[in-house]
Amino acid sequence: MSKILCIGLGKLGLIFSNILAEKKNIVYGYDINSSIEKKIKKNTKDLEPKLNYLINKNKKRFFFEKNFSISVKKTNYAFIIVPTPSLKNHSFDNQYIVQSLNSICKHLKYKRRYLINITSTVNPGSCNHFINYIEKKFKLKHGKEFILTYNPHLIALGSIYENVINSDLVIVGSDLPIGFKIIKNI
Ligand SMILES: NC(=O)c1ccc[n+]([C@@H]2O[C@H](COP(=O)([O-])OP(=O)(O)OC[C@H]3O[C@@H](n4cnc5c(N)ncnc54)[C@H](O)[C@@H]3O)[C@@H](O)[C@H]2O)c1
Repeated sequence: MSKILCIGLGKLGLIFSNILAEKKNIVYGYDINSSIEKKIKKNTKDLEPKLNYLINKNKKRFFFEKNFSISVKKTNYAFIIVPTPSLKNHSFDNQYIVQSLNSICKHLKYKRRYLINITSTVNPGSCNHFINYIEKKFKLKHGKEFILTYNPHLIALGSIYENVINSDLVIVGSDLPIGFKIIKNI
């Protein structure tokens, strides 16, 4: 059982974090949009047919978390599932990922190998940029205080559960064997 923080509970993040909870992990979900908590409580209709079923089933394993620093303290892993809209030059905009990294990394000084997984879709080269950014700005060492991995999803809206559970292909990117191992286990 792992303790996982999921940042971004939108179309992919809410159901994906509940899939992690269904697989017996303890999951703390965080989103800057607090109205998502109402959506979770009210069981409002969703495009994903399995979402409300999973939310009801996972009440003891999935928690909507309002306090970011506490959720980092309680967890060993964070999955970043925030938007990466396309820019005019067709690359992805990483600004929400960088915001999330800033929020996480200020709490990592005394953590050992806290895993940050980028679930959002990014361009080739972005993860190296994130690692350099964290090392420089927060004086943290990749492989020591944090590990960064990339595990994007190739899925279709409306069938996210089936597409994640029965994936034809799972992509995991990591510079460190330990990162690959952790994601594989999860
Ligand atoms: N939706 C899909 O089918 C799909 C499929 C494959 C990949 N993806 C990728 O997954 C990522 C997320 O997509 P989505 O469709 O779930 O987006 P979305 O817009 O539906 O949800 C993103 C959520 O992140 C929240 N958010 C934004 N900035 C935040 C921050 N700093 N801290 C906390 N929460 C924040 C927003 O409030 C929103 O609820 C994107 O990179 C997308 O390309 C999505």
